[in-house]
Amino acid sequence: MARDASLHGVGRHDRIAELARLQTLLGGPPLEVADLAAGYGRTVRTLLAAAQGPIRIHAVDTASGLDDDVLNDERVRSVIADLDEPLPFEPGALDRVLSINVAEHLVDPRAHLADAFRVLRPGGLLVLAHSDWDTALFAGDDDALTRRLVDRFVSTPPRFAERADGFMGRKLLGLASAAPFEIETVETWADCHRRFDADSVGWKVARGVLAAAVDDPDLAAEAQAWVDRLVRLADEGRFLFTVTDVAVVLRRPDPA
Ligand SMILES: C[S@@+](CC[C@H](N)C(=O)[O-])C[C@H]1O[C@@H](n2cnc3c(N)ncnc32)[C@H](O)[C@@H]1O
Repeated sequence: MARDASLHGVGRHDRIAELARLQTLLGGPPLEVADLAAGYGRTVRTLLAAAQGPIRIHAVDTASGLDDDVLNDERVRSVIADLDEPLPFEPGALDRVLSINVAEHLVDPRAHLADAFRVLRPGGLLVLAHSDWDTALFAGDDDALTRRLVDRFVSTPPRFAERADGFMGRKLLGLASAAPFEIETVETWADCHRRFDADSVGWKVARGVLAAAVDDPDLAAEAQAWVDRLVRLADEGRFLFTVTDVAVVLRRPDPA
């Protein structure tokens, strides 16, 4: 069976949970954590599993798309909010803030960081992570076409996400200057994905590649043939996809 990082307990969400350092003092109050743009709740689920003490997770998104197991966990509170607006938290209310793969969708990513600083308590951590889509790597038999399609993918934001930025991963450290954070850690990784089915990361990115080519009939046909070959490669156990993730852990300084 094809190995896939996300199936072997060392995927991006686990790495992110580790970076969030969720240890609490025995008998202390719950760690107050906000996952900004929680999506289906994959990061939230991993945070719940990694928590070593009481925790309360505010899962923020434009709509509640949380999977049922996450939504029904009494430690989770679903918060409907637009991240282009000020965060619905009091200044200094949170111990941890996570912002994973959402900066590219926001009108002003620097304002997003400045507001995360506002809602963190002194000593609190922001885990800011983003895939850098320009580093997408697909196994294949036509390097020039793969290069052309990935270039097209990162330079043609989809209609449903007109602000998408395929270079956001490498920009995170630059964004950190939006508020007087201390930089704790900078990490990059590229998880190995060998599955190419409807639930796989490679498939989702390949769908983005198809969407980016749709306005050019010749390229669209080439892109479809490219995807068909990836399916065959996967059937033969020779498919490989990866993309570089960048994660920056920022601390709000504690003057005490
Ligand atoms: C690529 S998903 C990332 C989900 C999750 N953080 C992860 O890494 O699996 C982007 C998420 O950002 C959310 N999003 C985009 N723009 C937003 C906004 N202005 N306010 C709140 N959420 C937003 C979307 O609804 C979606 O759930």
